[in-house]
Amino acid sequence: MLKKIQAWTGALFAVFVALHLVNTWAASFGPGAYDGLQAVLRVFYQFPPVEALLLAALAVHLVVGVMRIVKEPKRELNIRSRMHRYAGFFLMVFIVGHVLAVRGPSWFFDVYPGFQGLAFSIDYVPAYFYPYYFLLGLAGFYHGLNGLSIALGRLGWRFQVSPQMLRNATAVAGVLMVAALLALGGITADPGNVYESGFAQLALEIVGGSAP
Ligand code: HEM
Repeated sequence: MLKKIQAWTGALFAVFVALHLVNTWAASFGPGAYDGLQAVLRVFYQFPPVEALLLAALAVHLVVGVMRIVKEPKRELNIRSRMHRYAGFFLMVFIVGHVLAVRGPSWFFDVYPGFQGLAFSIDYVPAYFYPYYFLLGLAGFYHGLNGLSIALGRLGWRFQVSPQMLRNATAVAGVLMVAALLALGGITADPGNVYESGFAQLALEIVGGSAP
């Protein structure tokens, strides 16, 4: 039963993660591409019933994951399953903070982060945000793709991601994340004055910081 719930909620949330990662990678093409695609996708994932369903699926998936770790007897895991768990642990630790940091401002203050907001976070604390976004993107991709392979099998669909396909696709996702981060970091794209964005001003007010 728990496995079925985990499969359904994971498969549902994976649709959002796939769109969300494609949106993140579009940052390589600059602010126009990132913000333009996000405005289109938001119509879907921030439509209140859809957003509520996605966030509920995420919450149930997370709780069931913890329940299975606690309840199920310890067993030897192969490298692929171990990587799946490590990526899941990483996401568990960071996902609530991520949602509150990037969606909280638009829920409570009508301020959307967009390209400039992400570029601000990287410019302000690069030593944290470069590795954090890279690992978030990669963990989300690996856990999402491998999870989908497990979930669809469990739900009776014929869909199997071979180890080689998983490895190669993850390597490509890593390259796409680096390209997106170089743009967001202002190296291959021009984010403008990131400290002028509404997101930067709100974040600085909250942390009591100031523009350098
Ligand atoms: C480096 C990669 C990522 C970046 C730069 C990023 C950035 C963002 C941004 C800017 C938003 C706000 C979107 C908007 O205003 O429309 C957002 C929302 C969100 N992100 Fe991410 N994200 C990343 C990876 C992930 C991953 C891997 C997951 C899940 C596994 C995730 C889950 C979410 C969720 C659930 C929301 C809230 C969606 C909503 O309710 O509108 N993100 N992210």
